[in-house]
Amino acid sequence: MYYEFASSIEDKLLLAEQKMMSRSSGHHPDLTAALEHLLASGGKRIRPIITLLMGSLLGADDEKLISLGASIEMLHTATLVHDDLIDGALFRRGNPTINSHWTPSVTVLTGDYIFAQAAELAAEIGSTEAMSLFAETLSTIVNGEISQLLGRNKFSSREDYYHRIYEKTGSLFSLSAKSAALISPADRKYINPAEEYGSEIGKAFQIVDDVLDFTGDQTRIGKPIGSDLRQGVPTLPSLYYGEQNPGDKILKDVLDGSASDSEIDQLIERINQSGVIQLAMNEARECTKNAISSLSGFPKGHDRQALEDLANYIVDRDL
Ligand code: IPE
Ligand code: IPE
Ligand code: MG
Ligand code: MG
Repeated sequence: MYYEFASSIEDKLLLAEQKMMSRSSGHHPDLTAALEHLLASGGKRIRPIITLLMGSLLGADDEKLISLGASIEMLHTATLVHDDLIDGALFRRGNPTINSHWTPSVTVLTGDYIFAQAAELAAEIGSTEAMSLFAETLSTIVNGEISQLLGRNKFSSREDYYHRIYEKTGSLFSLSAKSAALISPADRKYINPAEEYGSEIGKAFQIVDDVLDFTGDQTRIGKPIGSDLRQGVPTLPSLYYGEQNPGDKILKDVLDGSASDSEIDQLIERINQSGVIQLAMNEARECTKNAISSLSGFPKGHDRQALEDLANYIVDRDL
C-alpha cells in the first residue's frame, strides 16, 4: 500500500518489515510458516508509520526507531491472531486466519510467540521507560478486549464504548506515538501531546473500523463485514440506532443472541439507511481534529504535515 504521507519514511518502514521477517525463523517450522504468512499478507502498517513519522519529527535515532516500529507492528499482529480466535473470524487481510485452519491451542500459542517476539524487539531499544510503556499498553489492550467479550449481548452507554475503544485500540496508537517521543532526544514537553495525538487518532480509527463493519466492502477490506452485530458487540452505529429506536425488536433479539441471520442482515440494512453512520463519522472527525490540535506545539515542517495528513486519512479511508 502506498501512502503519500509516508513517502519520507518509506525506507525505514522497509527496514522495519525486514526486521519483523527476520524474527519469523529459527523456531518450530509451523510457527515460521504461520508468521511468514501473516507478515507477508500485508496490513496497512499504520502504527509503525506513526512511530517513524513522530520519531523523525523529534530526531530519534533511526536504528532504535526501526526496532520500535517493528515491535509495535508485531504487538498489533499478535493481538489480531488472538482477536480472530475470540471472534471466530475466518478471514483477515484477505487470507484465511490461523484459527481457520489450526486448533485454538495452536492459535493461542502462535499469538503468544508473536507477543514474545514483539517484546524482544522492544527490548533491543534499551529504554526501560519504553519497555514498561509497552507492557502497560498490552495490559490495557487485554483489559479492553475482555470488557468487550464480557459485554457482548448488552447495550452499553456511549461512555463505556469510548472507554473500551481507547483501551483496545487507542492505547496502541498512543504507544506508537508516545514511545517515539520517549526515545527521542527532543524536549520531554512533547511526550504528552504525542500520547494525546495517538490516542485520539486511535479512537477515530476504531470508530471508522466499526462503521466499515456496516458499510464496507468485504473483498476490499479483506475481513468479514457485519461481524460485530453477529457477535452481539454493540458499537457506535448500533448504540446510536438503539438510542433512536428503543423498541426495535431485531436489535433486542441481536443483543439477546436470538436473532436469525436474515434478521441481522435486515438490521444492518436499517442501520445503513438511518443517519447513525453519519453521526458516528462526525465523532470520528472530532477525534481527528483533537489529534491535529495536539500537534500545534510541534516543529512545523514535512513530518508534522505528514502526521496531520495521516490523521485525515484515517477518517477518509474505505479499508
Ligand atoms: C485492525 O487493525 C484492528 C483494529 C484495531 C480495528 P488494522 O485495520 O490496522 O489492521 P491491518 O494491520 O491493516 O490488517
Ligand atoms: C480489534 O477490534 C481490536 C484489537 C485489539 C485486536 P475489532 O474486533 O473491531 O477488529 P477487527 O474488526 O476484527 O479487525
Ligand atoms: Mg475482531
Ligand atoms: Mg472491527
